[in-house]
Amino acid sequence: MILLKATNLSHRFDYPLFENISLELHAGESIAIVGVSGSGKSTLLHILSSLLKPNRGEVELFGRNIYALDESSLVSLRRHDLGLIYQSHYLFKGFSGYENLEVAAILAGETIDTELLKNLGIDNVIHQKVTELSGGQQQRVSIARILSKKPRLIFADEPTGNLDHATATEVINLFMRYVQDHQAGLLLVTHDETLAARCDHRYKMVEGYLVKEH
Ligand SMILES: Nc1ncnc2c1ncn2[C@@H]1O[C@H](COP(=O)(O)OP(=O)(O)OP(=O)(O)O)[C@@H](O)[C@H]1O
Ligand SMILES: [Mg+2]
Repeated sequence: MILLKATNLSHRFDYPLFENISLELHAGESIAIVGVSGSGKSTLLHILSSLLKPNRGEVELFGRNIYALDESSLVSLRRHDLGLIYQSHYLFKGFSGYENLEVAAILAGETIDTELLKNLGIDNVIHQKVTELSGGQQQRVSIARILSKKPRLIFADEPTGNLDHATATEVINLFMRYVQDHQAGLLLVTHDETLAARCDHRYKMVEGYLVKEH
């Protein structure tokens, strides 16, 4: 089953960023996108994950052309089916980690998985205010918040960027297990070679083109 299908995407800001990018992601699969800083990886992720309409090309998620949907269908799609993990994490700062998870779980009609918090090593700090957590702990709360929604498709921008090697490995294991168990899809951007190597497919942004490496 195809979860994501992008066709001939092109985008420019002040100058052309990329041309004619096409990509497919199947259920149970993971894709890593690598490339130098400024090559357009985050921009591509935003386009694929419904946040930015490309200048040209189409994005189908679960068989629907997302940039042809009305706003309420798009909001519903994001809320129930997509998990978006970005370079800066969007946690409510005045709340505890747990309260952040509760908000996400209630909106998606899911429950909080305490096993997940243990696996991420944040069960002992989850009731502290977000402002009292380290960068890596906040990142893991963000990941827990996304996985608690049980999304069919996860987009992650540098998900292990702030983590030490052991914690990063645990996060990668969790993602991979989640994708297998739920037959979900994972598309991530990373500079971490270990993480990229664990994904089923790897693409590289090179001078405005997306090159499939395996
Ligand atoms: N909203 C925007 N308006 C104008 N230019 C932008 C915008 N967003 C990104 N850019 C430019 O597009 C280029 C690609 O940015 P992008 O964030 O996609 O790169 P990246 O590959 O994710 O880099 P990094 O690895 O550093 O995160 C950069 O030159 C950036 O300045
Ligand atoms: Mg980026």
